[in-house]
Amino acid sequence: MDKVTVPGFREQKGKEKLTMLTAYDYSFARLVDSAGIDSILVGDSVGNVCLGYPTTVPVTIDEMIHHTKAVVKGVKRALVIIDMPFMSYHESIEQAKRNAGRMIKESGAEAVKLEGGTRMKDVIKALVDIEIPVMGHIGLTPQSIHRMGTYRVQGKGEEAEGLIRDARAVEEAGAFAVVLECVPRKLAQEITEMLSIPTIGIGAGPDCDGQVLVLHDLLGLLGEFRPKFVKRYMKGRELIEKAITEYIQEVRGGIFPDDSHSFH
Ligand code: KIV
Repeated sequence: MDKVTVPGFREQKGKEKLTMLTAYDYSFARLVDSAGIDSILVGDSVGNVCLGYPTTVPVTIDEMIHHTKAVVKGVKRALVIIDMPFMSYHESIEQAKRNAGRMIKESGAEAVKLEGGTRMKDVIKALVDIEIPVMGHIGLTPQSIHRMGTYRVQGKGEEAEGLIRDARAVEEAGAFAVVLECVPRKLAQEITEMLSIPTIGIGAGPDCDGQVLVLHDLLGLLGEFRPKFVKRYMKGRELIEKAITEYIQEVRGGIFPDDSHSFH
């Protein structure tokens, strides 16, 4: 299987659906990559999933680099994308270039993702101009949680025009793809047909060019809270809890370890 590159990813629009999942460590990156995924996103959702933060806001550049380095070591084929965390690209274009450059150089990822449409157009263009491929992210942008107040579908009714403008801005700035998060199905379809770059949906219906999910949601590793757009492909939490309970019982009952686990 050929390595997925940024141009290869982009050229897949209109040919075959693009597949993308998050991963945050070496072991899961190896599994996701060997299953044949097109792209692995080291999302700033690492904050919620691995670091126990209530939102993605506290995630730092160092944390992103730390997790991405581990992911890159486990990947042979997938395109690896690193999320730029909150306030790592908001101050100025110079700050965005310095941080994106550092994140690409130190982590080994091949592209960055950042949140925001029209208002991030100049930042995206500046990064693309210094050879850093950018994936955009519009619709529900979790780094804006304190402005939004709650995680809710974006682009309904009169908001649709703004989202269409955001999508155009991201494409014009030179992004190679764009994530559409929590957007009504019809609007996601309209944006997908309008753009020449791939749209990657999460909570955006089946008409996008590709799909992304948080790996731990797909595996059912998190709690009972499950947004409408998540499909759980296994009951990971129950399976893991069962295995650990069994281990505890066997150790306490003197069943494990037995002679077959012993050296002679
Ligand atoms: O951080 C993340 O995992 C993301 C995806 C949900 C798109 O941004």
